[in-house]
Amino acid sequence: MSKPKILIAFYSRKGSGEALALAIAEGARAADAEIRLRRAREVVGPEAMALAPGWAEAAAAMNERYPAPTPDDAVWADAIVLGTPTRFGSVASELKAYIDGLGGVWFQGKLNGKLGSVFGSSSSKHGGNESTLLSLYNVLAHLGLIIVPLGYSHPSLSKAGTPYGATFVSQKDTQKPGEDDLAVARYQGERVATIASRMIPSTAEAELVGA
Ligand SMILES: Cc1cc2nc3c(=O)[nH]c(=O)nc-3n(C[C@H](O)[C@H](O)[C@H](O)COP(=O)(O)O)c2cc1C
Repeated sequence: MSKPKILIAFYSRKGSGEALALAIAEGARAADAEIRLRRAREVVGPEAMALAPGWAEAAAAMNERYPAPTPDDAVWADAIVLGTPTRFGSVASELKAYIDGLGGVWFQGKLNGKLGSVFGSSSSKHGGNESTLLSLYNVLAHLGLIIVPLGYSHPSLSKAGTPYGATFVSQKDTQKPGEDDLAVARYQGERVATIASRMIPSTAEAELVGA
């Protein structure tokens, strides 16, 4: 059986989203997936990044660890998992810029039928995690992806996360995702990988049909 290929493309400025992304990768790898972890790049200038302590430094450190996502990464993947901090109740412009850059491959039909799943982080409890993830569902639908929600299909979801995807409340970036939050994220990775592996043909089948 071919390994499912999963792109995890996220934006994170203070590391909450990065921690969720790493846990999703861990869960997906445990389900035998091949992973590309990618961080969307800044779209605001250095003057905006200098307005909050630690933003510029954290962004530079993460950019050392992860390449920027490309349209080829999305074409390569069987499943695309998108992560974003809540920005005024919706998706961060940095991740949206990556998504908008997928227009060309979308137009060629190269994303149609892949899986899509989402995760995110907000500062406050009712600060917009769910509206942000649901706004990304619109994007997944337009790209022609098959949306993979979490529902309440795992015990971890009774303690953290949402039915729409893994989430975290950072309380003004003073907290880091704990074991309950990370358990949901690991489950999300495992679930996406497991469903993807059911949808891709085995190597033998692919050779038969000339794929
Ligand atoms: C411009 C901007 C807008 C934001 N809007 C919201 C918001 O509407 N609700 C909220 O709870 N947090 C909001 N936040 C806070 C982030 O969503 C929060 O700090 C998040 O945990 C950051 O994730 P990260 O550590 O992955 O960067 C905003 C932050 C910025 C910079």
